[in-house]
Amino acid sequence: MQLIDGKKTSAEIKQEIADEVKNMVAAGKKAPLLAAVLVGHDGGSETYVAHKVKSCEEVGFGSRLIRFEDDITEEQLLKTVDELNNDPEVDGFIVQLPLPKHINEQKIIEAINPEKDVDGFHPTNLGKLVAGLDTFVSATPMGIVDLIKRYKIETAGKHCVIIGRSNIVGRPLSILMSQKGIDATVTVCHSRTENLKEICKSADIIVAALGRPGFVTADMVKEGAAIIDVGTTRVKSDQTKSGWKLKGDVDFDNVAPLCSYITPVPGGVGPMTICSLMKNTLKAGKQRKK
Ligand code: GUN
Repeated sequence: MQLIDGKKTSAEIKQEIADEVKNMVAAGKKAPLLAAVLVGHDGGSETYVAHKVKSCEEVGFGSRLIRFEDDITEEQLLKTVDELNNDPEVDGFIVQLPLPKHINEQKIIEAINPEKDVDGFHPTNLGKLVAGLDTFVSATPMGIVDLIKRYKIETAGKHCVIIGRSNIVGRPLSILMSQKGIDATVTVCHSRTENLKEICKSADIIVAALGRPGFVTADMVKEGAAIIDVGTTRVKSDQTKSGWKLKGDVDFDNVAPLCSYITPVPGGVGPMTICSLMKNTLKAGKQRKK
């Protein structure tokens, strides 16, 4: 079994981005700038956004963090999105999800200029992905594909089972994995899937992205399968100072001995998500119309 080191791979990719930024700046161009909008004080969102801002500094991007309290109105948030759309200094921006219940997330996503939508959540960008056109691919699926490629995990003709059909992970990943050049045979499973265990057992690659800690157990895994764990649920722990730790969707201790490759949580897919966002921001910076 080989452990897939997302931290190391993301550090390598970030170094490649940092080198490109240096070249851009040396050629007299402005470094890309990413803005992040954070609403409220959700612990997970605070951590993710802090990592995104720190990564911008590491690769030489500019960054801007815009914070609002939970009681911001939808109208105010739409106004901020509009300002960012029209701000020539901002190459790309994200609105961290989830948003408070009184705000319609889809409405906010659709208000973002697709050319600055470095999350790749706008329907225009999702549609381009489906059509096989160049676009901003959402960060977690892109990070998973980068890991699979860099670890040279065989995909052509292989059965890839994705558990979870979210617009952020499962669905876009299913498109990427079946694209020409990757060529996997993809099954997307969800809460209504029958015979999930049998389907998983036939998988060469399992991607667990449903958000239920320890859901994928050893009896669901074929010997030699590659396992990608997207889960990051905070569970109580008396072994950490914070009182919680991150737990993946895979029962790591019992599944790891069976498989060919496996991503740990933390340190697997998580760091890749951040560096994919950096890749999209670099792309946005290069496409800047000025
Ligand atoms: N919440 C969880 N993952 C993401 C992400 O990739 N982007 C944004 N904007 N919010 C998230």
